Amino acid sequence: MSEPRQILVTSALPYANGSIHLGHMLEYIQTDMWVRFQKLRGNQCIYVCADDAHGSAIMLRAEKEGITPEQLIANVQAEHSGDFADFLVDFDNFHSTHSEENRELSGLIYTRLREAGHIATRSVTQYFDPEKGMFLADRFIKGTCPKCAAEDQYGDNCEKCGATYAPTELKNPKSAISGATPVLRDSQHFFFKLPDFQAMLQQWTRSGTLQEAVANKLAEWLDSGLQEWDISRDAPYFGFEIPGEPGKYFYVWLDAPIGYMASFKNLCARRPELDFDAFWKEDSTAELYHFIGKDIVNFHALFWPAMLEGAGFRKPTAVNVHGYLTVNGAKMSKSRGTFIKARTYLDHLQPEYLRYYYAAKLGRGVDDLDLNLEDFVQKVNSDLVGKVVNIASRCAGFIHKGNEGVMVAGDAAPELTEAFLAAAPSIAEAYESRDFARAMREIMALADRANAWIAEKAPWSLAKQEGKQDEVQAICAQGVNLFRQLVIFLKPVLPLLAADAEAFLNVAPLTWNDHQSRLENHRLNAFKALMSRIEPAKVEAMVAASKEDLLAAAGQAQAPAGNGELTKEPLSAEIEFDTFAAVDLRVALIVKAEAVAGADKLLQLTLDIGDERRNVFSGIKSAYPDPSKLEGRLTMMVANLKPRKMRFGVSEGMVMAAGPGGEEIYLLSPDSGAKPGQRIK
Ligand code: 2FM
Ligand code: ZN
Repeated sequence: MSEPRQILVTSALPYANGSIHLGHMLEYIQTDMWVRFQKLRGNQCIYVCADDAHGSAIMLRAEKEGITPEQLIANVQAEHSGDFADFLVDFDNFHSTHSEENRELSGLIYTRLREAGHIATRSVTQYFDPEKGMFLADRFIKGTCPKCAAEDQYGDNCEKCGATYAPTELKNPKSAISGATPVLRDSQHFFFKLPDFQAMLQQWTRSGTLQEAVANKLAEWLDSGLQEWDISRDAPYFGFEIPGEPGKYFYVWLDAPIGYMASFKNLCARRPELDFDAFWKEDSTAELYHFIGKDIVNFHALFWPAMLEGAGFRKPTAVNVHGYLTVNGAKMSKSRGTFIKARTYLDHLQPEYLRYYYAAKLGRGVDDLDLNLEDFVQKVNSDLVGKVVNIASRCAGFIHKGNEGVMVAGDAAPELTEAFLAAAPSIAEAYESRDFARAMREIMALADRANAWIAEKAPWSLAKQEGKQDEVQAICAQGVNLFRQLVIFLKPVLPLLAADAEAFLNVAPLTWNDHQSRLENHRLNAFKALMSRIEPAKVEAMVAASKEDLLAAAGQAQAPAGNGELTKEPLSAEIEFDTFAAVDLRVALIVKAEAVAGADKLLQLTLDIGDERRNVFSGIKSAYPDPSKLEGRLTMMVANLKPRKMRFGVSEGMVMAAGPGGEEIYLLSPDSGAKPGQRIK
């Protein structure tokens, strides 16, 4: 036997400002299946990930929610961890890029790059929001397209005519954050000199580290010449301050991939058998794989290997790239209900259905994968329930009834035993090369053969005949042995089914090599259904719930309370009457209204709704600079909104207002005569 391999595996770090959806899950499930396969084979395989916690988007979102960025990322980390665990994605560690390990490693890598002469500095002129006191990334600037005069376009491209331009070309530019007119301002920036690594990258990208299509794409960039990469951002920014450069921060994409190392380092502190340097030193013999989507190839296959090389660390063994997820043949769509969050799926369906479907469709290429919801139901029901589980459920009863649950010895179908053994290396090779679709096809072909053999032998008919009991037992023992082998082959994809099968088979956790042995004179435990069919109604309910998620999100964006920003997004999805009726709208008397120290946009309102008083934070200050004028006025509130913990206290509901935002916010009021606490219908 060869020595076990040492393998470190990562998936891309999800941003800490949004929920995980089924598009994300494609990558985590793909990686998890590969990692589980390696572990099943007896290799030392470590799977780390983390939340990608830095950047201005996270800073601004926290501000909007009235919480600190640290609180926001802690909340999101808890949500993400729960989603991954419930999809059976088994990280050895799920850390955060906002961690001490990452601060140290980012500082170390930067310092080594600087000392080796790979950092340049120069002044950059950029738009600055004088009201907010911050430089504006292109997506935070809006204005009129210089080509087609369409209004309300982003700072780098026009959605109307497709033109791309510099933000300075935009007419009538406005800060998307404060609405102020931005001014041009200079500031010193730090650049990573990527061109220093041109020759290394030319070689590295062609050395078997990338799929061919990816290497070809990169060759286009490499051939047209690499540019220096701006790795600094000015305060205010949520990230790590650059050592020795007060007020300058590492750009989020600088410390994000270093988060892979940091997560591993954090794990090493808990697992003494793991040696950080053995995995990361320049001449490490451990393997390192990154699984990513095709949108972030340049960061992982250009910047990242160059940073590692420049700082004296090893480079990845391979970067494994996958395509995007489409649902029912189209981009995931909120209004169609096909933008499905991980949690919404889990509220309706079992995780292993999706794991299997993804496995059945995932090849080793970068093609997009379509989750066709009808095909999903059909394929899972036919393959897993109809083929795999069916073998055990057909055979177990006869063994329990006719032989007290004991599987007899002897091989009733040597040609099948032989075929299953012979298929194993090819299935393993398919897993190893991430051709999960081929692995699933080969496994299901074996399941078909097992089912056909059992159908031909028809133990259910023999059981009714005199003197055929031994034959029935021999057939059914063989059936269960074949089922056991299929479970081993499927274990990386279906860990729960495997655990339930191990309980039924009355065996220790199965490893890959166990497929070479069989159970003889072995007592089984009682058989219970291992997997039930997907009911199409559950899929429909999931799609309907995804439309409601959209509505809830739109409602939050439009209502000002605690949010501070109004959007002009039209509501598009329809809701059922019941959804509307579930909202408890009440007439509320504003007893007290005051500004909140330290919050730009918030007012703190004390509302009387008849028999109780509520504390509500609302982002309406810009329209009501003198809040005391609101006192004594009636308004309308959502009274059954889940209380929300904000930086300044708990908000116990939401008041209702209209208007685009800023000074134009109009608090709604009932006609005179309405009484506090009255329900609005
Ligand atoms: O694109 C993204 O979602 C990034 N948060 C991925 C980061 S991967 C790694 F480099 F950290
Ligand atoms: Zn345009």
